[in-house]
Amino acid sequence: MTRIWTDIDPAAEALLAGRLVAFPTETVYGLGGDALNDRAVAGIYEAKGRPTFNPLILHVPDLDAAERIGVFTEPMRHLAALFWPGPLTLVTPLHAEAGVAPLASAGLATIALRAPAHSLARDLMQAVGRPLAAPSANPSSKVSPTTAGHVMDGLFGRIAGVLDGGPCPVGLESTIVGFDGETPVLLRPGGVAEENLAAALGRPLTAHDGGINAPGQMTSHYAPDAPIRLNAEAPSAGEAYVGFGSSPKGDLNLSPSGDLAEAAANLFAMLREIDQSSRPIAIAPIPDHGLGHAINDRLRRAAAPRT
Ligand code: TXA
Ligand code: MG
Repeated sequence: MTRIWTDIDPAAEALLAGRLVAFPTETVYGLGGDALNDRAVAGIYEAKGRPTFNPLILHVPDLDAAERIGVFTEPMRHLAALFWPGPLTLVTPLHAEAGVAPLASAGLATIALRAPAHSLARDLMQAVGRPLAAPSANPSSKVSPTTAGHVMDGLFGRIAGVLDGGPCPVGLESTIVGFDGETPVLLRPGGVAEENLAAALGRPLTAHDGGINAPGQMTSHYAPDAPIRLNAEAPSAGEAYVGFGSSPKGDLNLSPSGDLAEAAANLFAMLREIDQSSRPIAIAPIPDHGLGHAINDRLRRAAAPRT
């Protein structure tokens, strides 16, 4: 049985007992477990069917808590000061004595850290008092959940409960940034636009070239069941169509006013909804700047040949 809670207390109790609880963040729902508990962390991989070479993000309240786990340089502190709490994940060297379950970082010498902004996530972390390992709360390679209902659809019976905080306001996973020496590397586009990070650092980010390990960036990911055609100016016969802005009227529209933040917030819920039509899916072109960069990244993965 998987419970749905709106109170923090039972969720915090379950986490402290080493059980798994999905909770809302501003990006997507996370599948949380105590990051210091080996069995809880192993359970996360098991519940998701996630390959154990794909490391997890640790959720912490703030930079102080993060610095107890990871080794921060000045540019990383600068990004944390500007964008935390919020949809930014920083990959740092892992403090050997931090006590983090080795499986959380998949045995890597680095760790991904983020301070989420969602008030329920923050209250939960405060009540638990431990870092929470939390990948997106979906079965591996499926579309990320932006409501408690999505979590239940994918993980019912496999986790103790879901803390229900309604729909996630950003709707796309966090931006992941690592450093290769001094050079900032964009490991995954996400809820903080790359342009804003580059402006904060005073230099462009390098595209991920496989140099830094980001095993989660497998090509087929975020996948609905139906085939997907991108950059479709209009639907062909038999296709279900997802529009953007003033594109031709379709079954759904990510943002009739052409607002990228609204489109990001709607993306995963609409991919799930359109997938129910059992027709091939066609999606309108999305401008490739700001949050559009992350939206297009997720759409390319959703459309990639399935592995
Ligand atoms: O918004 C988010 O980031 C959500 C919410 C729940 O916080 N979480 C999320 O987690 O998207 P997940 O597991 O779906 O994606 C984590 C990504 C993976 O692509 C993984 O490879 C990468 O983070 N990652 C984790 N640790 C890493 C590390 N040490 N080095 C490089 N990449 C890492
Ligand atoms: Mg995920």
